[in-house]
Amino acid sequence: MSDIRTLQCRECGKEYAPGAIYACEMCFGPLEVVYDYAVIGERVSHESIQRGPQSLWRYASLLPVDEIPVANLGTGFTPLIKAERLGAEIGLPNLYVKDDTRNPTGSFKDRVVAVAMAKAHDLKFSTIACASTGNLAHSVAAHAAKAGVASFVFVPETIEEAKITATAVYGGVVVTVAGNYDKVNRLCAEVAGTFPWAFVNVNLRPYYAEGSKTLAFETAEQLGWRVPDHCVVPCASGSLLTKIHKGFEELHKVWLLSDKPETRISGAQAEGCAPIANAFHEDAEWVTPVKPDTIAKSLAIGDPADGVYAIDVVKKTGGSFGIVSDAEVVEAMQLLARTEGIFAETAGGVTIATVCQLAAKGVIRPDEKVVAYVTGHGLKTMDALHKGVKTMETTPSLSDFQHVLLESGYDASRDAGGPGPVLPFATFESRFSEG
Ligand SMILES: Cc1ncc(COP(=O)(O)O)c(C=O)c1O
Ligand SMILES: [Zn+2]
Repeated sequence: MSDIRTLQCRECGKEYAPGAIYACEMCFGPLEVVYDYAVIGERVSHESIQRGPQSLWRYASLLPVDEIPVANLGTGFTPLIKAERLGAEIGLPNLYVKDDTRNPTGSFKDRVVAVAMAKAHDLKFSTIACASTGNLAHSVAAHAAKAGVASFVFVPETIEEAKITATAVYGGVVVTVAGNYDKVNRLCAEVAGTFPWAFVNVNLRPYYAEGSKTLAFETAEQLGWRVPDHCVVPCASGSLLTKIHKGFEELHKVWLLSDKPETRISGAQAEGCAPIANAFHEDAEWVTPVKPDTIAKSLAIGDPADGVYAIDVVKKTGGSFGIVSDAEVVEAMQLLARTEGIFAETAGGVTIATVCQLAAKGVIRPDEKVVAYVTGHGLKTMDALHKGVKTMETTPSLSDFQHVLLESGYDASRDAGGPGPVLPFATFESRFSEG
């Protein structure tokens, strides 16, 4: 199905046969999947893609898999929503939200896992594993359940309770590690060298990361085979950001976009874990690791593997980075929910807060067609919001309810001229008591 030419070192260019390897033997640089674009370009067209399934598998010819896997949960082809009400509040009339909360386990990680699982199947692994900040673990456990294979997912013990419960329910092994993500990742590199397991984001990382390109493919297709002017992408390792860029470039290489894409790509990080954004703003040559301390736990990678590559993309496309406080993250989660009806997790709050920040600074211009990537569902990070939401409390008595309603500042004139009650309350009450 796919036309992988080779795996190639991003640093020294050395090529390797496609297998379960991820680092260059010569320089330890990360490996990247390289395709034969001339062959793919002959085979794909807008029509052939549009005839495909309503999932990320419609782009299988641009993914490193031999066949669509059995462990297919129907990931992808999530809606691209014109965010009219949010855009009006923040002065961006051409704002869109790519709503990846709609994936099977509620985050964009289903995309990378779908591809990694297919590759694990091709390479005949029988146990799937990962190092995760939460969402990846959730997705790996679900896909393993569907495929009927064993899973071991490793997470920091401090991640949200909801993510641990939602992962453990699938029946695989959830290993909580006493340490932050960077410690978990180091442990997993050692485990991957000891056990014959497919660690989706360690020994299968080159293939896994390719799944993120489908966010770019879908965005372009949903905009009528055009790219946006500006994208805002949340960053943990930085991989997703680099792959959205690669996705747009590939569409042009296989002749699915007539013009060379010129999308500006900006990254989003939380103040309590912003190693990539800090390095960008300081114009540093290296990304200096930090100790994460933020409510945006899914983005809490202090030593990001793809940080320098993400900065390179942001620089060459003319984007920037937002750095937002935890308070701004909560405010942005509520803003998105109240204007667009989308409940995002803290990572989505980081993205939306960054859109607001970069728009206020004039980095994102009102004339730009902007896509904000909202990558995870809010039900996974309820703790971040508990103190921020209000309810109205009453006894089950109409007069008590009327009292609290008036106390709350209810403006009855708002409803004047509306259809009114279908039956007066007294009629309801008497019917009810008559049985
Ligand atoms: C919801 C969510 N969004 C974005 C990201 C960032 O992904 P990356 O590590 O590719 O930068 C993550 C990573 O865990 C995530 O869970
Ligand atoms: Zn190398």
